[in-house]
Amino acid sequence: MPDIVEIIKEQHRQVEDLLARAEKGDGDSAALMQEVARLLLPHSEAEEAFVYPAIRDLAAEAGDEVKDGVVEHHQVEEMLQNLLRGDAEDPGYDGTVAAITGELRHHVQEEEQDLLPILAERLDDAERDEMGRRFLEATTGADLPSGGDHETTRRELYQKAREQEIHGRSRMNKQELADAVGES
Ligand SMILES: [Fe+2]
Ligand SMILES: [Fe+2]
Repeated sequence: MPDIVEIIKEQHRQVEDLLARAEKGDGDSAALMQEVARLLLPHSEAEEAFVYPAIRDLAAEAGDEVKDGVVEHHQVEEMLQNLLRGDAEDPGYDGTVAAITGELRHHVQEEEQDLLPILAERLDDAERDEMGRRFLEATTGADLPSGGDHETTRRELYQKAREQEIHGRSRMNKQELADAVGES
Protein backbone atom coordinates (compact mmCIF):
# COMPACT_ATOMS: atom_id res chain seq x y z
CA MET A 1 0.00 0.00 0.00
CA PRO A 2 1.51 3.33 -1.03
CA ASP A 3 1.15 5.25 2.25
CA ILE A 4 2.10 8.89 1.57
CA VAL A 5 4.13 9.20 4.77
CA GLU A 6 6.21 6.10 3.97
CA ILE A 7 6.77 7.16 0.36
CA ILE A 8 7.98 10.61 1.29
CA LYS A 9 10.33 9.21 3.94
CA GLU A 10 11.67 6.61 1.53
CA GLN A 11 12.48 9.28 -1.05
CA HIS A 12 14.21 11.32 1.67
CA ARG A 13 16.42 8.32 2.47
CA GLN A 14 17.32 7.91 -1.22
CA VAL A 15 18.37 11.55 -1.48
CA GLU A 16 20.33 11.42 1.80
CA ASP A 17 22.13 8.35 0.58
CA LEU A 18 23.23 10.10 -2.63
CA LEU A 19 24.34 13.19 -0.71
CA ALA A 20 26.34 11.07 1.73
CA ARG A 21 28.11 9.44 -1.21
CA ALA A 22 28.81 12.81 -2.84
CA GLU A 23 30.26 14.15 0.42
CA LYS A 24 32.44 11.09 0.90
CA GLY A 25 33.65 11.27 -2.66
CA ASP A 26 32.17 7.83 -3.36
CA GLY A 27 31.53 8.06 -7.11
CA ASP A 28 31.23 10.84 -9.65
CA SER A 29 30.04 13.81 -7.63
CA ALA A 30 28.47 15.66 -10.56
CA ALA A 31 26.48 12.56 -11.55
CA LEU A 32 25.40 12.00 -7.95
CA MET A 33 24.25 15.58 -7.57
CA GLN A 34 22.42 15.38 -10.90
CA GLU A 35 20.61 12.34 -9.53
CA VAL A 36 19.80 14.26 -6.33
CA ALA A 37 18.19 16.99 -8.45
CA ARG A 38 16.30 14.45 -10.55
CA LEU A 39 14.78 12.87 -7.43
CA LEU A 40 14.33 15.95 -5.34
CA LEU A 41 12.79 18.49 -7.69
CA PRO A 42 9.62 16.53 -8.55
CA HIS A 43 9.43 15.45 -4.88
CA SER A 44 9.37 19.04 -3.62
CA GLU A 45 7.04 20.10 -6.38
CA ALA A 46 4.52 17.36 -5.55
CA GLU A 47 4.72 18.31 -1.88
CA GLU A 48 3.89 21.89 -2.75
CA ALA A 49 1.17 20.92 -5.23
CA PHE A 50 -0.99 18.78 -2.96
CA VAL A 51 0.76 17.51 0.20
CA TYR A 52 1.44 20.85 1.88
CA PRO A 53 -2.01 22.22 0.98
CA ALA A 54 -3.60 19.11 2.54
CA ILE A 55 -1.52 19.58 5.70
CA ARG A 56 -2.59 23.21 5.93
CA ASP A 57 -6.23 22.20 5.54
CA LEU A 58 -5.91 19.57 8.25
CA ALA A 59 -3.98 21.74 10.69
CA ALA A 60 -4.17 25.51 10.27
CA GLU A 61 -1.54 25.87 13.03
CA ALA A 62 1.02 24.26 10.71
CA GLY A 63 0.67 27.14 8.22
CA ASP A 64 3.94 28.86 9.13
CA GLU A 65 5.86 25.61 9.05
CA VAL A 66 4.46 24.89 5.59
CA LYS A 67 5.50 28.35 4.38
CA ASP A 68 9.02 27.79 5.72
CA GLY A 69 9.09 24.44 3.94
CA VAL A 70 8.33 26.05 0.58
CA VAL A 71 11.04 28.67 1.11
CA GLU A 72 13.54 25.92 1.95
CA HIS A 73 12.58 23.98 -1.19
CA HIS A 74 13.37 27.00 -3.30
CA GLN A 75 16.66 27.68 -1.52
CA VAL A 76 17.81 24.10 -2.04
CA GLU A 77 16.63 24.15 -5.64
CA GLU A 78 18.60 27.31 -6.35
CA MET A 79 21.77 25.97 -4.73
CA LEU A 80 21.42 22.74 -6.71
CA GLN A 81 20.95 24.55 -9.98
CA ASN A 82 23.97 26.75 -9.36
CA LEU A 83 26.01 23.70 -8.48
CA LEU A 84 24.95 21.80 -11.60
CA ARG A 85 25.82 24.74 -13.82
CA GLY A 86 29.36 24.68 -12.48
CA ASP A 87 32.10 22.11 -12.41
CA ALA A 88 33.12 19.65 -9.70
CA GLU A 89 36.65 21.10 -9.87
CA ASP A 90 35.47 24.63 -9.09
CA PRO A 91 36.69 26.09 -5.83
CA GLY A 92 33.73 26.13 -3.50
CA TYR A 93 32.07 23.12 -5.08
CA ASP A 94 32.51 20.90 -2.03
CA GLY A 95 31.34 23.73 0.19
CA THR A 96 28.15 24.04 -1.83
CA VAL A 97 27.55 20.28 -1.62
CA ALA A 98 27.96 20.56 2.15
CA ALA A 99 25.60 23.54 2.30
CA ILE A 100 22.95 21.69 0.29
CA THR A 101 23.34 18.65 2.52
CA GLY A 102 22.98 20.72 5.68
CA GLU A 103 19.99 22.69 4.45
CA LEU A 104 18.28 19.54 3.28
CA ARG A 105 18.96 17.68 6.50
CA HIS A 106 17.28 20.47 8.42
CA HIS A 107 14.33 20.57 6.01
CA VAL A 108 13.77 16.82 6.00
CA GLN A 109 13.96 16.66 9.77
CA GLU A 110 11.31 19.34 10.21
CA GLU A 111 9.11 17.81 7.56
CA GLU A 112 9.27 14.40 9.19
CA GLN A 113 8.88 15.71 12.75
CA ASP A 114 6.30 18.41 12.32
CA LEU A 115 4.41 17.96 9.06
CA LEU A 116 4.17 14.29 8.15
CA PRO A 117 2.73 13.27 11.55
CA ILE A 118 -0.29 15.47 10.74
CA LEU A 119 -1.01 13.23 7.75
CA ALA A 120 -0.32 10.11 9.78
CA GLU A 121 -2.71 11.19 12.52
CA ARG A 122 -5.51 12.88 10.64
CA LEU A 123 -5.91 10.93 7.41
CA ASP A 124 -7.30 7.42 7.37
CA ASP A 125 -5.51 4.55 5.66
CA ALA A 126 -7.42 4.92 2.39
CA GLU A 127 -6.73 8.65 2.21
CA ARG A 128 -3.01 8.14 2.84
CA ASP A 129 -2.92 5.48 0.13
CA GLU A 130 -4.73 7.73 -2.31
CA MET A 131 -2.29 10.55 -1.69
CA GLY A 132 0.62 8.13 -1.86
CA ARG A 133 -0.50 6.88 -5.24
CA ARG A 134 -0.78 10.42 -6.51
CA PHE A 135 2.66 11.26 -5.14
CA LEU A 136 4.24 8.25 -6.82
CA GLU A 137 2.60 9.15 -10.09
CA ALA A 138 3.83 12.73 -9.84
CA THR A 139 7.39 11.77 -8.89
CA THR A 140 8.03 8.54 -10.78
CA GLY A 141 5.07 7.88 -13.10
CA ALA A 142 4.91 4.57 -11.24
CA ASP A 143 1.26 3.73 -11.56
CA LEU A 144 1.11 4.06 -15.31
CA PRO A 145 1.06 0.87 -17.31
CA SER A 146 4.67 0.38 -18.35
CA GLY A 147 4.46 0.30 -22.10
CA GLY A 148 7.09 -0.88 -24.55
CA ASP A 149 10.55 0.59 -24.82
CA HIS A 150 9.44 3.26 -27.23
CA GLU A 151 6.56 4.62 -25.26
CA THR A 152 7.35 8.00 -23.73
CA THR A 153 6.87 7.79 -19.98
CA ARG A 154 5.17 10.39 -17.86
CA ARG A 155 8.52 11.07 -16.24
CA GLU A 156 10.09 11.93 -19.60
CA LEU A 157 7.18 14.21 -20.43
CA TYR A 158 7.45 15.73 -16.98
CA GLN A 159 11.14 16.48 -17.53
CA LYS A 160 10.31 18.22 -20.80
CA ALA A 161 7.58 20.23 -19.08
CA ARG A 162 10.13 21.23 -16.45
CA GLU A 163 12.58 22.36 -19.12
CA GLN A 164 9.82 24.38 -20.78
CA GLU A 165 8.83 25.75 -17.36
CA ILE A 166 5.20 24.77 -17.87
CA HIS A 167 3.10 25.94 -14.99
CA GLY A 168 1.09 23.38 -13.01
CA ARG A 169 3.01 20.44 -14.49
CA SER A 170 3.07 18.41 -11.31
CA ARG A 171 -0.71 18.25 -11.30
CA MET A 172 -0.96 17.08 -14.91
CA ASN A 173 -1.53 13.51 -15.98
CA LYS A 174 0.43 11.99 -18.82
CA GLN A 175 -1.94 13.11 -21.59
CA GLU A 176 -2.08 16.65 -20.27
CA LEU A 177 1.71 16.77 -20.11
CA ALA A 178 1.96 15.46 -23.65
CA ASP A 179 -0.44 18.18 -24.82
CA ALA A 180 1.44 20.86 -22.90
CA VAL A 181 4.86 19.98 -24.33
CA GLY A 182 3.46 19.51 -27.81
CA GLU A 183 3.99 15.76 -28.06
CA SER A 184 0.46 14.49 -28.46
FE1 LIG B 1 10.07 15.88 1.44
FE1 LIG C 1 10.06 19.01 1.35
